Amino acid sequence: MTNLRLGVNIDHVATVRNARGGAYPDPMRAAKMAEAAGADGITAHLREDRRHITDSDIEKLSRELKIPLNFEMAATDEMIAIALKAKPHAACIVPEKREERTTEGGIDAVGQHNRLAPMVRQLGGAKIRVSMFIEPDRAQLDASRALGAPVVELHTGAYAEAGFAGDKKKEAQLLEKVREAAAYGASIGLEVHAGHGLTYDNVKPIAAIPEIRELNIGHFLIGEAIFVGLEASIKRMRQLMDEARA
Ligand code: PXP
Repeated sequence: MTNLRLGVNIDHVATVRNARGGAYPDPMRAAKMAEAAGADGITAHLREDRRHITDSDIEKLSRELKIPLNFEMAATDEMIAIALKAKPHAACIVPEKREERTTEGGIDAVGQHNRLAPMVRQLGGAKIRVSMFIEPDRAQLDASRALGAPVVELHTGAYAEAGFAGDKKKEAQLLEKVREAAAYGASIGLEVHAGHGLTYDNVKPIAAIPEIRELNIGHFLIGEAIFVGLEASIKRMRQLMDEARA
């Protein structure tokens, strides 16, 4: 085992459940299975439109999970109230657009300082570890620190997309941006996480970045679970992360 944690995002178990509106597959069962397979935490995003995770999923997860819950949330009064009630271990603040398919970019910690600062304070005051989901960019790292957030999660979506498109040059450039941001973030005292779009094929260079303490991975793991089962998909990811770190 290394000091790189794996947070498993179970949103898309709920996506499949909600496709039929019933009770299965059950995200709580997935969370427990992920825990048994070696996940260090569970991540769940309660979106404004409740397209996957629902309020009762969050209640159940915060009540029954033994490993830390990372609650992904938009910076809205509604979500702050839910977080303060559920008291997850961590809250990751993400930008949210109703029409997007997934979280498309990082939050603008620079431009939204005045709006975000009281929210970060409130969550921190409730002993919830606040993480800002940001682009790998120095100005965003400085702004996250200025907000008083102890953690940042670097958005690896652009790096992943470049790889999916077969653009090796761009992929390498974007990897370098993540590397530089991780080193800079750690140097100014932030705990650095990363996530979005990570797969067996692209996880290793990110996992090898020594300053990164946690990866949050969802869509690929749940998709792969269709073929090999959730336990096997998580174990394989864990193994690749450990190999990269060794
Ligand atoms: N981290 C954050 C902040 C996210 O919003 C998401 C997607 O919900 C992830 C990690 C996981 O991304 P993926 O599902 O592409 O692995």
